[in-house]
Amino acid sequence: MHRRDLLRLLSLSVLAGATGCDGQSASPRPEAFSPQAAAGTGFVPDVEMVLMAAPDEVSVLPGAPTRVWRFTGRLLKGPADTLQTLPGSYLGPVIRLRRGQKVRVRFANQLAEDSIFHWHGMDVPESADGHPRLAIGRGHEYVSEFEVTNRAGTYWYHPHPHMRTGAQVYQGMAGLLLVQDAEEDVLALPSGEAELLCVLQDRRFDARNQLVFHSGGMMEMMNGFLGDRILVNGQPQPTREVDAAWHRVRVLNGSNARIYKLAWSRDVPMVVIGGDGGLLEKPLPKQALTLAPGQRADLLLDLTGLAAGTEVHLESQAFVGADASVGGMMGMRGGPMMGMMGGGSNVPNGAPLRMMTLRTRARKGPAFRVPEHLSSFDAAWPASADATIRRVPLTFQRMEWSLGGRTFEMRDVAPEETVAAGSTHVWEFMNLPNPMGMEAAHPIHMHGRQFRVVDRTGGRATNTLRAGLVDAGWRDTVLVLPGETVRAQVTFTRHPGLYLYHCHILEHEDMGMMRNFRVT
Ligand code: C2O
Ligand code: CU
Ligand code: CU
Repeated sequence: MHRRDLLRLLSLSVLAGATGCDGQSASPRPEAFSPQAAAGTGFVPDVEMVLMAAPDEVSVLPGAPTRVWRFTGRLLKGPADTLQTLPGSYLGPVIRLRRGQKVRVRFANQLAEDSIFHWHGMDVPESADGHPRLAIGRGHEYVSEFEVTNRAGTYWYHPHPHMRTGAQVYQGMAGLLLVQDAEEDVLALPSGEAELLCVLQDRRFDARNQLVFHSGGMMEMMNGFLGDRILVNGQPQPTREVDAAWHRVRVLNGSNARIYKLAWSRDVPMVVIGGDGGLLEKPLPKQALTLAPGQRADLLLDLTGLAAGTEVHLESQAFVGADASVGGMMGMRGGPMMGMMGGGSNVPNGAPLRMMTLRTRARKGPAFRVPEHLSSFDAAWPASADATIRRVPLTFQRMEWSLGGRTFEMRDVAPEETVAAGSTHVWEFMNLPNPMGMEAAHPIHMHGRQFRVVDRTGGRATNTLRAGLVDAGWRDTVLVLPGETVRAQVTFTRHPGLYLYHCHILEHEDMGMMRNFRVT
């Protein structure tokens, strides 16, 4: 099977090259870390897979199937449970890896446009990080190799091509990557059927059940694209039969722009045990949890006391403060001007939502006690006194969102964006007011190493997203609310090369609210 795959991929590459059917995209990237370059490096993978990106059809709503673009996976080497397909979902396979494994992924692009994909949250070499300059055309293959050095946790993968990340993710390209390690094994967290995976995304459909994306209208680019239906693992408002037991619930906000303020119905408490970069030091009970695009949450859920047939819903509570004055800037929220400028969703950011239902069965699960202590990583995090401090204003200028006063250029790196491998910096993300009165909450993401939030200052007491923020633990994406300054301490990856940091509202990213940093 292995050889057949390779032959097929090779013949596809030849075909694409011979016909030039994908125009400019067919040209090999001179700088690319090609399969040829990757071969012969002596890298012996424990896990090897093909991840193919291709158009497909899935059933989402009753009636006609929906055309999507999606990842499908095929395991060539490694433990049989490495890839798990989510039934009925357009999402890519759930990839389960263990810390210490060496992984080779053969990304095969069968889309009609360039693509490349990124391991969100993972500390990988430059060649595996999915920079847009590495995008490949249809019929080509990109091989990436890395060793899993991240802590156990919930990570994910998604495309990262130039100016098309939002569109490709929206068409369905995303998947979960779950890392396990010995520290987590000891806790014996609920697993198997008691582990629920929830990827939250919002979409719009036309009358024929096809996805509707934005037309580049100004308001949708400024605010980010919002759908009017919430999908969990690609399904609208799913209901799951579950045991009256403890559950582990891993949530990814895979939406382009929507923020959620997560809560369980019936006042069931949210017990947060992990974030972007794995387990917290100890469980953190919250009434509600703010989850911005790109972020993940690891939760424990106690259903043990519930009678059979009880329903508990995963909800998003109403909030204000995501884009406080975007609509307000000319007093036109919902007014006729708004339609002229490209419209918006009839389910605005902050609208209350019901996303998923868990219905209990009579069956009880195994006994489980929430561990008092989850992880001892905090000892490894001294706030560094001699870190290099850098201010990064998040601003709106010349009708564009920008980072540190600049927007994305493919290879451009400013002096303050050049960092030494392994050095520690504190970057201060300052969500400043601007003369146009445009403001938005920006989830700022850094590639490579996870960071720690040193502190969060400023902002407004009226912002109801604040109460749900969790800054504890390792993060790779931090929500910076209007008027706030968030200081993040990061020790950069030991891998030299060109990496990215950007706003994870995908429309902001695609518009250029993204920059390179170079690790030297
Ligand atoms: Cu999840 Cu650069 O992205
Ligand atoms: Cu990332
Ligand atoms: Cu943004």
